[in-house]
Amino acid sequence: MKTIIGTSAEEAVCWLKRGEPVALPTETVYGLAAPLFSEATIRKIYSVKQRPTNNPLIVHVLNFEQLKTVAETTPLVQVLTERFWSGPLTLVLKKKPCISDLVTAGQASVAVRCPQASLFRQAIELIGEPLVAPSANRFQHVSPTTAMHVLNDLGGRIPYILDGGACTFGLESTIVSLLDETQPTLLRYGPITAEALGTFLNRPLVMAKDVVSEQKPHLAPGLYKKHYSPQTPLYLVGNLADYVPPPRYKAIFEDRAAHVFLFPPSRPLREGECVLSPNRDLNEAASNLFDCLQTLDTQDWRSIWAEEASNEGIGRALNDRLSRAAYVDLRD
Ligand code: TXA
Ligand code: MG
Repeated sequence: MKTIIGTSAEEAVCWLKRGEPVALPTETVYGLAAPLFSEATIRKIYSVKQRPTNNPLIVHVLNFEQLKTVAETTPLVQVLTERFWSGPLTLVLKKKPCISDLVTAGQASVAVRCPQASLFRQAIELIGEPLVAPSANRFQHVSPTTAMHVLNDLGGRIPYILDGGACTFGLESTIVSLLDETQPTLLRYGPITAEALGTFLNRPLVMAKDVVSEQKPHLAPGLYKKHYSPQTPLYLVGNLADYVPPPRYKAIFEDRAAHVFLFPPSRPLREGECVLSPNRDLNEAASNLFDCLQTLDTQDWRSIWAEEASNEGIGRALNDRLSRAAYVDLRD
């Protein structure tokens, strides 16, 4: 199949009407979209991504009115969405009976978010129903933040990529479960920080087991729960400037290793070194992380060495993605 990169929401929607999933830009990452009520097109999402069907999809709605057609709402849902929508916050809620098991992996809950990106919103309006969209990458690959990233990973498998430029946030949405409203639970770190949500709700969020596991012990290579991974093995360290590897990693560190700095080091950059935030701003670093990993992955490096961020605000989301991308975690 020939993959076209274009800028027309109308053309993207033509393909959706023909039953083909298309890649659409959101403010977080590019999504691979299908209409909520087209089961055959949703099945193609799973096969294009090579994603197991027990991994449920996020439903994207235009507004609170449309949310009410998809999930049960409550006063808490209403105030949270008034404050944080449109934007990178996904809520897990009790689903309406009309939502297919294919979307929710058979669960009684559904994940819903309201995207900010105007091209994605146009597509929802044109098709006239919510769109489901996982990130537009193959299962366990790094999420795409540009149309070119999508082309590199899914080219030949989908007919159309709607190009909206680089994604503003560059990390997937924050996911919060409100299934038990006495315990709003953070399921995935993202651009809306745990601190901001806790302040708004006037109590700290409960951390789901997997989210808490950012304080991982050192694991042997390969034991990591792989996700968001570049093909080149990534080694995660505390601080990269003047890093001295343990003896068993010395040879790897010295053999065509790329370096990912958070902020500019105090010496000139060498070939294969990149800086996530020239302006020393963690939001900027987050927005550049996946692009940096995708770029290094297309070059001939034997390993990638990256450093962690401070564990606060968006730094938590950054560290979460880095630890999932890591082949070996060498943080202290
Ligand atoms: O920013 C984003 O959220 C992007 C853009 C495209 O909107 N989408 C995205 O989708 O990251 P995906 O499929 O890559 O990640 C969705 C996550 C999965 O980890 C899935 O397990 C979780 O949401 N999820 C979906 N439905 C759920 C549910 N009912 N309960 C708990 N987790 C759910
Ligand atoms: Mg994904």
